[in-house]
Amino acid sequence: MSDGQNRTIRVACSAVRAPAGREGFKLSRTIASGLAALVAMLTCVSSGAAEQLQPDKPWMNPALDTDSRTRVLLEAMTRDEKLALVFGYFSSDAPWKNFKKPAAGLEQSAGYVGGSSRLGIPALMETDAGTGVASQPGPNPRLRTALPSNLATAASWDPDLAYAGGRMIGNEARLSGFNVLLAGGINLLREPRNGRNFEYGGEDPLLAANIVAAQIRGIQSNHIISTIKHYALNDQETNRTTLSVHIDDRSARMSDLLAFELAIAQSSPGAVMCAYNRVNEVYSCESRWLLDEVLKSDWGYKGFVMSDWGATHSTIPAANAGLDQQSGYPFDASPYFADALKEAVEDGYVPAARLDDMAARILRSMFVNGLFDEPVKAGDIDFAGHAEVSRAAAEGAMVLLKNDHHLLPLAKSVRSILIVGSHADAGVLSGGGSSQVYPVSGTALLERRPKGAGPRVYFRSSPMQALAAHIPARITYDAGTDIKAAAKLARHSDVVIVFARQWTTEGLDSTMHLDEEQDALIVALARVNAKTVVVLETGGPVLMPWVDKVAAVLEAWYPGSSGGEAIARVLVGEVNPSGRLPVTFPRSLEQLPRPHLDGFPEQHNARFSVDYTIEGAAVGYKWFDRRHFEPLFPFGHGLSYSKFDFSNFAAEVDDKRLSVRFAVKNTGDRAGKYVAQVYVSPIGGAAASGWEAPKRLSGFKKVSLQPGEGADVSLSIEPRILAVYDDAGKSWVIEEGDYDVSLSTDARTVVSHTKVHIPRQIIPISR
Ligand code: BGC
Repeated sequence: MSDGQNRTIRVACSAVRAPAGREGFKLSRTIASGLAALVAMLTCVSSGAAEQLQPDKPWMNPALDTDSRTRVLLEAMTRDEKLALVFGYFSSDAPWKNFKKPAAGLEQSAGYVGGSSRLGIPALMETDAGTGVASQPGPNPRLRTALPSNLATAASWDPDLAYAGGRMIGNEARLSGFNVLLAGGINLLREPRNGRNFEYGGEDPLLAANIVAAQIRGIQSNHIISTIKHYALNDQETNRTTLSVHIDDRSARMSDLLAFELAIAQSSPGAVMCAYNRVNEVYSCESRWLLDEVLKSDWGYKGFVMSDWGATHSTIPAANAGLDQQSGYPFDASPYFADALKEAVEDGYVPAARLDDMAARILRSMFVNGLFDEPVKAGDIDFAGHAEVSRAAAEGAMVLLKNDHHLLPLAKSVRSILIVGSHADAGVLSGGGSSQVYPVSGTALLERRPKGAGPRVYFRSSPMQALAAHIPARITYDAGTDIKAAAKLARHSDVVIVFARQWTTEGLDSTMHLDEEQDALIVALARVNAKTVVVLETGGPVLMPWVDKVAAVLEAWYPGSSGGEAIARVLVGEVNPSGRLPVTFPRSLEQLPRPHLDGFPEQHNARFSVDYTIEGAAVGYKWFDRRHFEPLFPFGHGLSYSKFDFSNFAAEVDDKRLSVRFAVKNTGDRAGKYVAQVYVSPIGGAAASGWEAPKRLSGFKKVSLQPGEGADVSLSIEPRILAVYDDAGKSWVIEEGDYDVSLSTDARTVVSHTKVHIPRQIIPISR
């Protein structure tokens, strides 16, 4: 080989290796496609410069750009190999269907999609879910770290914390051999009784999107795929597989779909999981509007759509509407995307190009997220470190709802504390269903229920034991099952801390009432002891008929596998509470758009409509504002042990973009975190501007301050949050006009406000 030839090879190889952003290494434009790329690569191989390159599998070359790798691999695949990619299995035995899990799938896990050793395509190993690596029921659950519920993470209003949690659970997934985490729950909290609210990001699209996107980015930083789910409008569990929600295009895009749109734009999840329910009569997983039009065409989504487990109902309509992969067979009635799809492609009912697109989307997500280049491998997990991540997440999420006479943090002088109820001597509650994590730190209790769903799983992380380690008081526990006996003990204690729980689970909606006489217990305790604190472990909002009678209320959500310690540290003031409600707590069911939950209690297979046109896009606080309802606790509410002062609040529009700034100072005597919330209202009124409600959360920031410390904060406002969706023009439009911009401590408490004039803007929908 001459010197000249050598030089040419070096240039070609360095072009092949030139770093170019997130998708790894990209070829220069001149050699980016097809043959030229192949020649450059083979030249590298023949020169011995890149030992790991496989000439027979050019798509394995990380130096090629993703689209080229996908295309070259697709060209090498047979039709059967493509079909294998679009059909997923449940990865646990399902004796009721006479089904044995695929041999290569991981035990007691959610899903398995076969790969190809001929082509080097890794199998997809899928596990639930958003709060940790879950296990399907069975004798050997894998023991992992559980984060607090997703709603708790949303209550932190802290995308950095959400990212850290996502990164941690993604790491555990990876080291458990999973390359797909079925996470990213973002169904808008439109129905406070939804049994799965604990898996989602709350009622506001901006907050939910920022939190869930951060979590997805954290998960995918481990070179695995995260889903975002359940697309879309799967906002109640009662008859989730048979009901049809009714909503117009515009309202959907300005509420539930907006949460997905923003989160997808911020985090590029590898897959979108379509939902169980029907939307405007059509199953989500065969809705051309949802899948093809909104997701893939309007938003330009490049990943793949997988069905929820049992949410595929057809072959030709589903495939042609945009479903790319059937999941979890045998949950569906039929293996629609197996032989039936092959036949439909052969007969031309599903174009061959569509099958190519399905496979290409899956492969592309696998390439983008590193499934080929960084294959997962089981390994040791840093459980001690991860327990700290979970504890920090729980501490950032707790919301101090009420604190009369500064009862909290507990004074060092408190001599006796009575702890009542919810097995607080043993552990903390978790939410149920497919997301159930079995913690490595141990399960304190499986509380069997007489009938129906369950058991309730309590993680071994006792608030009582943790409290005992932090405060010198004498601490007694009473189960609270005998109200009179508990009240007798309460009378003689300095402080009473009653733990109240609302167990919620996938598959079952709640009533928002605390069950099993917990309300009566709290009233009885508060009657005899004015220093009664209620710690709530709930999936979402609950009604509190006793709220005026107790001194303090701390919402701890489902706080995860280090939750007991986190609760104790907040109670004693080692941690200053900084969570804010990601959901409005109503005073009564009558304040909801649907005081009666449609279909509840569930009748098997009942088919009915749920009318979301009642509130349209006015979900949560927006509905409350529109109807002038006074909630029990507003969206965004949360107290601190510190005080914060604000000054110099200003808003400006520069180059059509709204931004705000202000100064904040911690004037309290302990370190604390303040959540700045910015709301915007059109001054001419919601109706005139096309807004669904008087105001919208338009920006937020959590600021951490030492005592006496101040900070200058600035926020740039996401333009789509100020816009309305124009269905005729298929674009987002900000109407010209005057807008009120407020700095607030919650959706109802304004600290400072100002007026800005915003020019008209049209923001194209496609990207
Ligand atoms: C749930 C999904 C979950 C899947 C696999 C379904 O029942 O709705 O969220 O990912 O099961 O376990």
